[in-house]
Amino acid sequence: MPSARLLVLFGSQTGTAQDVSERLGREARRRQLSCRVQALDSYPVVNLINEPLVIFVCATTGQGDPPDNMKSFWRFIFRRSLPSTALCQMDFAVLGLGDSSYAKFNFVAKKLHRRLLQLGGSALLPVCLGDDQHELGPDAAIDPWLQDLWEKVLGPHSVPLNLDLSPPGVPWPSRFILQFLTDTPSSGPEELCVAGTDPQGPPSELQPFLAPMVSNQRVTGPSHFQDVRLIEFDISGSGISFSAGDVVLIQPENTASHVQQFCQALGLDPEQHFTLQPREPGVACPARLPRPCSMHCLVSQYLDIASVPRRSFFELLACLSPHELEREKLREFGSARGQEELCEYCTRPRRTALEVLCDFPHTAAAVPPDYLLDLVPPIRPRAFSIASSLRAHPARLQILVAVVQYQTRLREPRRGLCSSWLASLDPARGPVRVPLWVRPGGLTFPKTPDVPVIMVGPGTGVAPFRAAIQERVAQGETENVLFFGCRRRDQDFYWEAEWKQLQARGCLTLVTAFSREQEQKVYVQHRLREFGPLVWELLEGRGAHFYLAGNAKYMPADVSNTLLFIFREEGGLSGPDAATYLARLQRTLRFQTETWA
Ligand SMILES: Cc1cc2nc3c(=O)[nH]c(=O)nc-3n(C[C@H](O)[C@H](O)[C@H](O)COP(=O)(O)OP(=O)(O)OC[C@H]3O[C@@H](n4cnc5c(N)ncnc54)[C@H](O)[C@@H]3O)c2cc1C
Ligand SMILES: NC(=O)c1ccc[n+]([C@@H]2O[C@H](COP(=O)([O-])OP(=O)(O)OC[C@H]3O[C@@H](n4cnc5c(N)ncnc54)[C@H](OP(=O)(O)O)[C@@H]3O)[C@@H](O)[C@H]2O)c1
Ligand SMILES: Cc1cc2nc3c(=O)[nH]c(=O)nc-3n(C[C@H](O)[C@H](O)[C@H](O)COP(=O)(O)O)c2cc1C
Repeated sequence: MPSARLLVLFGSQTGTAQDVSERLGREARRRQLSCRVQALDSYPVVNLINEPLVIFVCATTGQGDPPDNMKSFWRFIFRRSLPSTALCQMDFAVLGLGDSSYAKFNFVAKKLHRRLLQLGGSALLPVCLGDDQHELGPDAAIDPWLQDLWEKVLGPHSVPLNLDLSPPGVPWPSRFILQFLTDTPSSGPEELCVAGTDPQGPPSELQPFLAPMVSNQRVTGPSHFQDVRLIEFDISGSGISFSAGDVVLIQPENTASHVQQFCQALGLDPEQHFTLQPREPGVACPARLPRPCSMHCLVSQYLDIASVPRRSFFELLACLSPHELEREKLREFGSARGQEELCEYCTRPRRTALEVLCDFPHTAAAVPPDYLLDLVPPIRPRAFSIASSLRAHPARLQILVAVVQYQTRLREPRRGLCSSWLASLDPARGPVRVPLWVRPGGLTFPKTPDVPVIMVGPGTGVAPFRAAIQERVAQGETENVLFFGCRRRDQDFYWEAEWKQLQARGCLTLVTAFSREQEQKVYVQHRLREFGPLVWELLEGRGAHFYLAGNAKYMPADVSNTLLFIFREEGGLSGPDAATYLARLQRTLRFQTETWA
């Protein structure tokens, strides 16, 4: 009987690393290994020196940044004071989740692997580089890596050869038991736990503020393909405060028709109330859920039925399926050999969990309610850069939201959950309240007076810069240079009148790039290059700060390359010196970015 004690620690922004970690936990338990799975920041990091065997599962987010739930760990592990023997008792392996279209591919996993070696840890395996860009997704790298891992951990012969990870009809135990109430509670309308009139501290994920929506205005032309909304909330009495660069988190909910379809497919009564009971001691119930909770509340506000399901969803469904044909198909999708087919069926066309359940009706109807929270992940809050300053709009918070909608080979268009939900809310038709809270963002603006700022924000990337410009102008800071890019001036030139007014007052230098008004694309980086002498003079001569926000894909690398060009052309630096100059700007926080996919 293997006796190793395994610890799996994850850092996850959108749930993939957590899902992979839970899979690792299940596979370990099936191999009779004792195994704990925890988010890195919920693990007492000083105990690491006593751990014999740790698997780190880490995503990379932002531009090579660690996810929020491993930020404290990240700061700790890179402390200079840690001795080089600190982890010499520990065997470890690092599994990274990333996307090779980003410049810093799997940066966090690679850097962590190096650091653990520096601290004396022994690597069982080379770092695993999961890649979203692979046809089969991260599993293409994870599957063979896990096989090697189990061999290393258990030795080649101690793994039962005919081990079946998802035997039919034998699911792993559900994490919770749903205890149904016989009577419906008579209290008023049910809501997720939200900040009351006298909240303890500012609103947070556990206690969001239900902010009244004041307005929801489309700011792109009626014929433009992209729907973008300027949305304003009233935050009076919420205890919320923010500065330019901060981010608001919004907890969206599923559409009524999806909730109804889901309840119908699974045979759930939306009116039925229940309480949750963890199956194992030490497992906490989701703090966001009211107690008791109705099925309607669970499905509409908690379960992410519109997300694209991961492989573990199919593994579990296969175990729960009473229908032979459906079970076989589901088992295939949950197995290593079925990944190409799963990608074709689900990942590539972005089929949702709800749509899959409707495709497997016998299985859906047989899902025991106890398994709902194992099967469907919770709805994640979405971040939006705050687009207004409290100095210009007291007690108000504004955001600029691009409504996500796109077509795949499926007939029904794919719609982003949060942006579509926000767009559907109309305060003119009756009061609307949205659960939200605020956290510091990745951009901080200079506190010292008279420091110029250069901001590059194409599309909705301009949002945090509107907050910054409003805040700076209110403080008498007039050296603001904004590079803004959009498709056409008459379609998606956000806040045109406001910028023009500020220009006329001498508070703003605005440089625009209209990408689709001529044959050749004109992007912000092209205009930046034209303004190279000004950019160099402000950075080198005036100590300016440089900011970049918007689409995470290609724009950040394109803009960084243009900066390197400017440093060479205008500053006369060599290629390596230009790179060092840019790295120094980054290190001293004079070059900051906030980008999203
Ligand atoms: C720090 C930060 C600040 C942000 N600020 C803003 C902001 O100011 N304004 C703003 O609009 N957004 C902003 N975002 C993005 C925002 O958080 C959401 O990701 C965005 O609104 C989409 O969420 P959704 O729920 O509508 O879509 P989801 O349901 O989450 O769907 C989005 C997903 O759909 C897929 N997808 C999208 N388009 C396509 C396509 N064409 N083809 C294939 N797949 C596709 C991608 O996987 C994408 O991740 C920010 C994000 C971060 C991290
Ligand atoms: N995941 C993706 O790859 C992707 C790509 C685009 C948009 N989107 C989504 O589309 C929505 C709208 O986004 P948005 O309002 O922020 O606008 P955006 O799509 O980022 O576009 C804003 C402007 O940036 C231009 N642009 C395109 N590629 C660029 C590059 N490499 N460098 C500099 N500029 C570039 C666009 O030009 P052209 O469009 O004329 O090329 C447009 O004029 C969001 O939901 C976003 O997530 C996603
Ligand atoms: C906004 C954003 C930024 C990202 N930045 C990077 C990056 O810099 N490097 C990288 O390798 N992958 C990057 N990725 C890809 C993620 O690491 C990948 O999707 C991963 O599977 C997410 O894991 P998670 O769901 O556990 O957070 C980014 C993804 C998003 C949405």
